Amino acid sequence: MDGKVVLLVGGSGYIGSHTALALSEAGYSVVVLDDHSNSWPEIQDRIANLAVGPVEFIAGDVRDSGLLDSIFARRRILAVVHLAASKSIGDSLVNPLACYDNNVLGTLRLLQAMERANVSSLVFSSSAAIYGPAARSPVDEHFIPQCENPYGRSKWIMEMVIADALGGRGCYTCLRYFNPVGAHDSGLIGEWPRLPASNLMPMICQSASFGTPLQVYGSDYPTRDGTGVRDFIHVVDLAEAHVAAVNAVLSGNCRSVLNLGTGRGVTVLELIQTFERANATTVPILFAPRRGGDIAELYADPRLAQRVLGWKARRGLESMCVDAWRWERKKPAFR
Ligand code: WQD
Repeated sequence: MDGKVVLLVGGSGYIGSHTALALSEAGYSVVVLDDHSNSWPEIQDRIANLAVGPVEFIAGDVRDSGLLDSIFARRRILAVVHLAASKSIGDSLVNPLACYDNNVLGTLRLLQAMERANVSSLVFSSSAAIYGPAARSPVDEHFIPQCENPYGRSKWIMEMVIADALGGRGCYTCLRYFNPVGAHDSGLIGEWPRLPASNLMPMICQSASFGTPLQVYGSDYPTRDGTGVRDFIHVVDLAEAHVAAVNAVLSGNCRSVLNLGTGRGVTVLELIQTFERANATTVPILFAPRRGGDIAELYADPRLAQRVLGWKARRGLESMCVDAWRWERKKPAFR
């Protein structure tokens, strides 16, 4: 494998599998490191078949310093994209130390290995979850994070550790994702977690598939229809933003933090209605009490990312719904 090599840590997961394809389409050779703690090894053949260039897969934990050293020794890695993290807010509340161990320690080990190998370009997967309940939408990158759960705090800590490690010495960008949904339009790659997903789009797909009512958490928020407002972004748009961010850090265009969203707030009911219309299907719903820790409204001011990366989310809500449903119906049934 030669050419421009990117190490994609967590490259078998939902965002990672789409990012592997986007990097490959952009001419990068990709080395995926993933421990499959929340993904299935079967995704690798699908990525390899869809990719236009070489993708190498390595099974292992980001906290394994010896493994990281061997990867950096074997490959001339130009940049690292780091997506490997525990992402369940609920699990982080039950077991905060496991979340910090995987997320913060993993990032620390990766940064140390990068330093030993003299690699100083990094794109990091952060989250809009770090903004916390006080955020006023559209929220921009100047808002100081005030998150209240260990998952969000771990992302915030990682951002600070990365800033201390690479600020002035390297070039990095932390991408704060809003609500990624949808799937690759081939229907072969999509959200395929090992742990049960509880996010809205997978739950909509489940209700449409099985006829079990979707619980809509809260109908009394101060929003246009009483349900929560979020900024849903197509996962392929998100993947393309990672390519733009890798290009940026490799050309010395270092911007510490960028929001990745569409800038459009959509209510839970609007997403459900769009899904029903776009897919000519029915999603039974049941109104339920608010979910603990949720906020009424969170959507991005994405203008900085648009300016810095020359990137813009292009795919609309209908595509998100059509692609999510195609994946839901095509995804392997054996898991
Ligand atoms: C969206 C809206 C729910 C499920 C989380 C993380 C964030 C990021 C994305 C990782 C809310 C409502 C949901 C359901 C519902 N992940 N809902 N019924 O909470 O905005 O963001 O996932 O980085 O960091 O915080 O996403 O999809 O869980 O919820 O009514 O069965 O849908 O109450 O208003 P959230 P979500």
